[in-house]
Amino acid sequence: MSLKVNIAGVEFKNPVIAASGTFGFGEEYKDYIDLNKLGGISSKGLTLRKNPGNPGIRIYETPAGIMNSIGLQNPGVDHFIDNELVFMRKYDTVVIANLGGHSYDDYSIGAAKLDKADIDMIELNISCPNLKEGGMAFGTDPQKAREVISLVRAETKHPLIVKLSPNVTHIGEFAKIAQDCGADAISLVNTFNAMAVDVRKRKFVFNNKTAGLSGPAIKPIALRMTYEVAQAVDIPIIAMGGIMDVEDCLEFMMVGASAIQVGTANFSKLDTMIEIIDNLEKYCADNNISDINDIVGIL
Ligand SMILES: Cc1cc2nc3c(=O)[nH]c(=O)nc-3n(C[C@H](O)[C@H](O)[C@H](O)COP(=O)(O)O)c2cc1C
Repeated sequence: MSLKVNIAGVEFKNPVIAASGTFGFGEEYKDYIDLNKLGGISSKGLTLRKNPGNPGIRIYETPAGIMNSIGLQNPGVDHFIDNELVFMRKYDTVVIANLGGHSYDDYSIGAAKLDKADIDMIELNISCPNLKEGGMAFGTDPQKAREVISLVRAETKHPLIVKLSPNVTHIGEFAKIAQDCGADAISLVNTFNAMAVDVRKRKFVFNNKTAGLSGPAIKPIALRMTYEVAQAVDIPIIAMGGIMDVEDCLEFMMVGASAIQVGTANFSKLDTMIEIIDNLEKYCADNNISDINDIVGIL
């Protein structure tokens, strides 16, 4: 029985990937789970320059989820290449560099630097809702999306995943734009733009007023969007949004995802991904499935 999946020529030992921003660069998790068991790790969102992230409250719990306003705190692309990437490369897992940005230049210079680095894939994040400039602005405007994806595509030969924002009416249109502009795969969804109020202080919880919602609360919507994207494009899909267990993983694969990412669940249960991988094996054995790819897009 095989859990192997191939996305844009890159082989993953299983379809379970740590979602960007919820797993750092793996270091904090290494003493708790075996990173070699993971299909892949998507790095914390990288920007061209080191970024301190947003001031104020950054994580806030909601029923069945969390809201975050991290604001892409990260060490910058150069530091990543010289340090965090060296750590990630010690493990037998696919290394995905998640690239964010505030401007077209940020994205294209960052992509050019990553092109020379020893990574397996780039995940282009045009969907971060927590930046004053850039981020989601690129992923919710068709023209800007086209421009930034084309710019990054021109700068790198690494397989390119474009990570879509769910904060649009027709996500399939953005998936088509990504495909037309040369993306090798689509990932979705990033967090949903949301809001919380502290009634005692009579203030918004977050300095930016809004923040990104993730976790089980968003799963049914993320699933519907994954299906829509699967109907719209031919390139492989990496899906996420509230995946907590193997059933959730299977739902996303059945509607068209070749692989999945686990984000918020890593916070509440450190070994969520390991459990999903083990239970995927069990599911395949129990159901006489010799190749996990056989369930992709059966609906
Ligand atoms: C604390 C936090 C930080 C995140 N940072 C990033 C990031 O840097 N880049 C990115 O593309 N997505 C980032 N995300 C979005 C996740 O990768 C994922 O798309 C989203 O949380 C939905 O999946 P989930 O419900 O399993 O968490 C972040 C999410 C959280 C909760």
